Amino acid sequence: MIGGAPVFEAIANRFYDLMEQDPAYAALRAMHAEDLAPMRQSLPRFLAGWAGGPRDWFEANPGKCMMSLHRDFPIDRTTADQWAEAMTRAIADIAPKPANVAQAMIDVLTRMARNMAR
Ligand code: HEM
Repeated sequence: MIGGAPVFEAIANRFYDLMEQDPAYAALRAMHAEDLAPMRQSLPRFLAGWAGGPRDWFEANPGKCMMSLHRDFPIDRTTADQWAEAMTRAIADIAPKPANVAQAMIDVLTRMARNMAR
């Protein structure tokens, strides 16, 4: 409905471009490994399965839950907000259709990121 793998790849690449280029996300960037290439592969595959598409990320990571996978990272309100803001901008920039589904993705991902903060 939202456009398949190319749309999730475009969103993830825009998200990591923003993380790398905009100093507003410096704290978030610093938490990640220097090489973001594995994340550019992993995030769109997760999002595709999460959104109801092909589940290859879930099949490659049996039993892994995104919330518990992040439990050991020192995520606070600041870095959770940086994640949510960069993702909101990435989805807005790619502007997938239908717009109400894109907005629903922004809302749910924002809530998920905020719930990872301690
Ligand atoms: C709350 C703010 C968040 C922070 C600070 C954060 C941070 C991180 C960090 C540090 C890693 C490890 C990456 C590395 O070693 O380079 C990671 C992995 C990952 N994160 Fe997040 N994350 C956040 C929220 C989210 C959310 C909401 C999602 C999904 C909707 C997500 C999806 C992923 C994925 C798919 C991976 C890679 C997992 C794998 O395939 O092994 N993250 N995250």
